[in-house]
Amino acid sequence: MLCRRHVEKFKSAVFRLTWRRCSVTRLLIVAVAICAFSIFYLSYRLVATQTSTRTQNPPRPSISCRDGLQAMRHNPNDHTLHSNFRTGKKVLVLVESPYSDSAKSILNTLEAVRMDYKVETVWKNLPMFTHHDKGKFSVVVFESLVAYTRLDSWNRQIMDKYCKDYGVGMIMFVQPMENVGTDYVSVLGFPLELQQNIRLKDYQLDTTSSIWRITRPGEIIHSVPGDDWTVFHSNHSSYQPLAKAVLAQSFWDDQEYIDDNMTVVPVVRDCGLIDNIQRVLFGHGLDFWLHHLLFLDSLSFLSGGKLSLSLDRYIQVDIDDIFVGQTGIRMEKPDVEALIDAQTRLQSQVPGFHFNLGFSGYYYKHGSEAENEGDEYLIKNSNKFWWFDHMFQHEQAHKRTLEELEKSMLKSYAFAKEHNIVVSQQYAVAPHHSGVYPVHDSLYDAWKNVWDMRVTSTEEYPRLHPFWRRRGFIHRGIMVLPRMTCGLFTHTIMMENYPGGKEHLDHSIQGGELFETIIYNPVNIYMTHLSNYGNDRLALYTFESVVKFVQCWTNLKLQQVLPMQLAFKYFDLFPEEKEPIWQNPCSYKRHIEIWATSKDCNRLPKFLVIGPQKTGTTALYTFLAMHPAIMSNYPSPETFEEVQFFNGKNYIKGLDWYMEFFPIPNNATSDFLFEKSATYFDNERVPMRAHALLPKAKIICILINPAKRAYSWYQHMKSHQDATALNYTFYEVITATEDAPSSLLDLKARCLQPGLYVQHLLRWLDYFPTRQLFIIDGEQLRSDPVLTMTHVQRFLHIQPLYNYSQSLRYDPKKGFFCQVVSEEKNKCLGRGKGRVYLPMEPASDEYLRQYYKQDNIALSKLLLRLNHRVPQWLQEELRN
Ligand code: A3P
Repeated sequence: MLCRRHVEKFKSAVFRLTWRRCSVTRLLIVAVAICAFSIFYLSYRLVATQTSTRTQNPPRPSISCRDGLQAMRHNPNDHTLHSNFRTGKKVLVLVESPYSDSAKSILNTLEAVRMDYKVETVWKNLPMFTHHDKGKFSVVVFESLVAYTRLDSWNRQIMDKYCKDYGVGMIMFVQPMENVGTDYVSVLGFPLELQQNIRLKDYQLDTTSSIWRITRPGEIIHSVPGDDWTVFHSNHSSYQPLAKAVLAQSFWDDQEYIDDNMTVVPVVRDCGLIDNIQRVLFGHGLDFWLHHLLFLDSLSFLSGGKLSLSLDRYIQVDIDDIFVGQTGIRMEKPDVEALIDAQTRLQSQVPGFHFNLGFSGYYYKHGSEAENEGDEYLIKNSNKFWWFDHMFQHEQAHKRTLEELEKSMLKSYAFAKEHNIVVSQQYAVAPHHSGVYPVHDSLYDAWKNVWDMRVTSTEEYPRLHPFWRRRGFIHRGIMVLPRMTCGLFTHTIMMENYPGGKEHLDHSIQGGELFETIIYNPVNIYMTHLSNYGNDRLALYTFESVVKFVQCWTNLKLQQVLPMQLAFKYFDLFPEEKEPIWQNPCSYKRHIEIWATSKDCNRLPKFLVIGPQKTGTTALYTFLAMHPAIMSNYPSPETFEEVQFFNGKNYIKGLDWYMEFFPIPNNATSDFLFEKSATYFDNERVPMRAHALLPKAKIICILINPAKRAYSWYQHMKSHQDATALNYTFYEVITATEDAPSSLLDLKARCLQPGLYVQHLLRWLDYFPTRQLFIIDGEQLRSDPVLTMTHVQRFLHIQPLYNYSQSLRYDPKKGFFCQVVSEEKNKCLGRGKGRVYLPMEPASDEYLRQYYKQDNIALSKLLLRLNHRVPQWLQEELRN
C-alpha cells in the first residue's frame, strides 16, 4: 500500500454523508420517531433530575461539533480541551459475552495499551459509576450498539445520566445481525438508520475531524475486507462522518435499486447535540486494522485526553547473533553494505537509529570466503553500529555456573577489545532467552561483574504468548525490557520461505501484528538474526516497510535512544512493572526448557498456612511438621519458622532465594512441602503473588474471634517491650483517633485490620477457587487439635491418615495441647505462645463487638455460601 498523501488531498467539501432519498412514508416515520424520542427524553430528564442525589452540581459538558473543529485549529493532537471532568482513567466495557470474538478484541486492545478497564455483561446490574462524587470511568465501550438500545430503562437512565454529568463519551460497535439482509434498520430512540451486511471499497477517513491523534487520515484503502459492514444514515447534524467508503455491491432495497459506487458512512461521530452524550459508532469491529487506530483515538478524544497514549515510539532492532550462522546463509560484504545503507535511510525517518549487533566472537569468520569477507567488513565498519555481548560461544546461560558465565563474558570482552568494537551500552541479551526469565541469578551477577550491565530484554516475561501481554521488570538492579517478535527467525531467510509467503509478511507490516506492536507499545525492541540480513535481506525490507507504513498512517514519532535511556523511559511510563511477578516455571513448557535442570518445582510448597497472626498458626505449623509425609521450610535466620516471601522485601529476592528454603522431597507425589507465614493473610498483594507462583497450592487459614485476636496481638507486642503497647492501654489503642501519634495508629491497625476477615478472604477467593481454601476454626484447633488435624489431612488428601491422638496430649500446666515426648513428658510451644494475661476489660470487649459486627455478619454469610460450618464463636457473636 503506497502513501499518496502528497499526490491527492482528500477534499473535506466532498466528505459529506450521502443520505438516502427519503420517501414520504419514511419522513413520517422519522417525524414520529423524533416525537417519541423527545417525549422519552423529556420524561427521562424529569426522572433523571428527580433521581439525582449525589451529583447535583457536576460540571456539564457543552458540546457542539464546532468545538471539535476549533480544537483542531489549536493543535490537531490535543484532546485535553474538555478534560475538566472529575473522572478516573478507567474504561467500562459492556459486553454481551466476554468470550465473543468482538469482546475479546476490545479487551485485548485495552490490555495491549495497558489501559485500565472493567468489563461487565450488559445483562447484569451495572457497576457503581461514582466514588466520592468522582466518576470511575472516562469512556464507556459497548460491544454492541443494539445491547445499548435494549438496556432496561432504569440502567439506561443511570448510564446516560452519568455520561452527561461527567462528560463521558461512548464507543459503540455494531455487530452484524443475521437475517437482516441489507434493509435499513432504525436505531431505537435516535434519528439514525443502519444498513447491514454490506461490502465496501475505497475506505477513507475525514481529514477535518478533530478526533485524530495517532491516526493520520488522507489515504484510501481500496480493498476493504469483509462483507458484513454496517453503514450509518442520518440527516441530523449531530452525526458527523469519520470515515466514508464506497458500496462495493448493488442490491434492491424496498423496491429501490441501490447503486454500487454510492458513498456511505462506516464510522460516525455523534457530537452529542441530541442528548449531550458524545459517541463514536463503528460499523465494523476491530478485525479491520485501521479501526485499532480509530478506537484508540476515540478513547482519547471521548475521555478529554485522559486516555491519550504518548505519540513517542522508540524502536530498537537487535541483530542477536552476528557471526553465528551456518555457512551459506551468513552475510557477505554486499549485505553489510546494504545494512549500512538501510541504516542511513532509516536514520532519516527514525532519528538516532542504529542496528544493535549482538556478537558471539567465537564464530567470527566461520563461514565461506565471501562470508568471512563480510565479517571483516562488519568489523571494519564497527563504529557505525551499536554492539552488545551475546555470549562468546552463544552459550545457554541457564546451563552455566557463575564462573563459567564470567569466563565466557571475559572472552567476549577480549574479543571486542582486539577488534576495536566499542561496547558501551550496558545492554546485553542472552542467547535463547535463557537465564533472563525464568531468572538464573548467576547470569545477572556475571553480567554485572564483567560488563557492568544494566539493561536486557526478553520475550519470555511473563510468557511469549500473547505478545500484547509481554511486560518488563527489574531484578538485581538489571532492567529487563519486553522484546517483540517481528516474525523473522533464524530460518526465515528468503521471502518465499516466509511462513505464508510475502503476502503474510506484508499483512503483518500493513496493519497486522508487526504494525500493531508499534501502535500499542511505546518501547519496541525487535529480535532479528544474522541470516535475516544476508540472503534476500528480509529484515531490511521488513523494517523499512513498516516504518514507511507507520509514518503514512500515523502521527507517531519514531525514534531510537540508547538502551539505558530507553529502560528509564520504559519504567517511568510503567512504574508498576518494576517489581516482577514470579510465575511457576513448571506451568509453562517454554519456561521449563530454559530453566536450570538443577532447579525443581517440587521444591515449592504444595500448601500455605497464611495466618492471620495470633490465631494458633504456630501450633498448627508444629502439628503439621510432626506428620511423616509433611515437610516444612527450613527456618529463616531473620523471621524464624516463617519465610515471609510473598509479602515484604523478600519477594524481590526471587525464586532461587525462596526455593533454597525447601528440601528436595523424596517422593514428589506423596510428600507435602508447606510454608507458614501468618503475615500473608491480610497483605493485599500476597494472594496475587501466591497464585502466580503456586496456582495449584492449597491455602489454609485459621479464624478465631477477631476481638480475641486483636487482644492477643496487643499482649504479644507488650511482651516484646513495644513502647507504644507499654504506654497505652488496649482500650486506648483500639479507640485511637486519626490525630493520634503514628506509632499508636500503626499498632491499632495491626490489632484491628487482620480481623476484618471477610475483606481478606474475598481477596484470596479472587485468585484461588473455593476448593483450594480451607478455614480452620481456631477454637477447635485449641480444644481438639486431633479432630482438626484429621480434617486438615482430609482436605490435603494425605494418605494414609496420621493418627494425632497418639502424639498430642493436653498439658494441664500449659493449658494447651502439646506434643507427646514420652509417657511423662510433653513438648509444648514456647512461652510466647499461650501467654497468661488478664482478661480483656468489658469496655474493649463491647467496643470490638460493635467494631466487628458487620464484618462478622458478612463472614457468616460467606461461610454459608462456601458450604462451611459457622464456628461456635461466630454463632455466639451473632447472637449477642
Ligand atoms: P495467646 O498467646 O495470646 O494465648 P500464633 O501462633 O498464630 O501467634 O498464635 C498464638 C496463639 O495460639 C496463642 O495466643 C494461643 O492462644 C493459641 N494456641 C492455640 N493452640 C495452642 C497450643 N497448642 N499451644 C499454644 N498456643 C496455642
